[in-house]
Amino acid sequence: MRKIAVLTSGGDAPGMNAAIRAVVRKAIHDGLEVYGVSHGFNGLINNDINKMNLGDVGDIIHRGGTALYSARCEEFRTEKGRKRAADNLKTYGIEGLVVIGGDGTYKGAFELSKLGVKTVGVPATIDNDIAGTDVTIGYDTALNTIVDMIDRIRDTATSHERTFIIEVMGRDSGELALNAGLAAGAETIFIPERNTKLEDVAERIQAGLDRGKKHSLIVVAEGVMTAEYCSAQLAKYINIETRISVLGHIQRGGKPSAADRVLGSRLGAYAVDLLKEGQSGVGAGISKNELTATDFSYVHVHEKKYDNSIYLLSKELSI
Ligand code: F6P
Repeated sequence: MRKIAVLTSGGDAPGMNAAIRAVVRKAIHDGLEVYGVSHGFNGLINNDINKMNLGDVGDIIHRGGTALYSARCEEFRTEKGRKRAADNLKTYGIEGLVVIGGDGTYKGAFELSKLGVKTVGVPATIDNDIAGTDVTIGYDTALNTIVDMIDRIRDTATSHERTFIIEVMGRDSGELALNAGLAAGAETIFIPERNTKLEDVAERIQAGLDRGKKHSLIVVAEGVMTAEYCSAQLAKYINIETRISVLGHIQRGGKPSAADRVLGSRLGAYAVDLLKEGQSGVGAGISKNELTATDFSYVHVHEKKYDNSIYLLSKELSI
């Protein structure tokens, strides 16, 4: 293998830049030519493909977002779009591709590998919902951002003796809500993996009030309901003053944590190794601090395991 390419796709995640840098520098170090594809799979379809040198990835390791830009590409969902992408890579003589992104990106990468393009995935999404890796790039930073925001909200909740409902990202995954809720000491956490009844939550809040508790924090994963809906529903069961806070895209941006930079660097370099070994159709990952490669076919059908003990612990500790 002499020429490889790298792209980022889907929602950006802090630490993607560390992964891009690692792919480019490791490839050049090992004597390969490396190309950057801009704007995700769109760039493959539209030939937005440029040769990269060592200096092109200088000064990015500490920045959030992605220097290669990202997109959610509709055309790539079609067979025609994917065929065009594969043909363009062939025209450039590019033999291997590193795709950095989340579950949607992995689905695209899986399809591309079926067309004969040697493709390796690097898991990067704040949602931490990819099977085959203990953790995804971006999750640690986003989790810390959320906890920092909830700490601030707690100051106001305490001062005003109010209940706050905080909506966090995570689409189909409760990982961010669950661990942010535990780390921030939230009284209640709603996650898509568990059915938590609003009546029970109202009862719990009322019991707290009866004991003299003045405020509470409720964390809601966006995949369960909106904070607004949660507030309206709770009002049916209990007479409390609530305020809502939707954290939104503030959770995705910002300077990557050291952990995400280390993870991005390790997985990016490992993806190059996998391509050099001739592997394709696999996602790079980390399991118990060991680098691993997992078939896209496995990642495609398996959900990342949700840890119910964390949910139970948060409940025990936040009476
Ligand atoms: O997958 C990452 C994520 O941030 C999800 O948590 C969220 O639901 C989604 O992306 C939002 O996507 P967009 O930025 O395209 O609105």
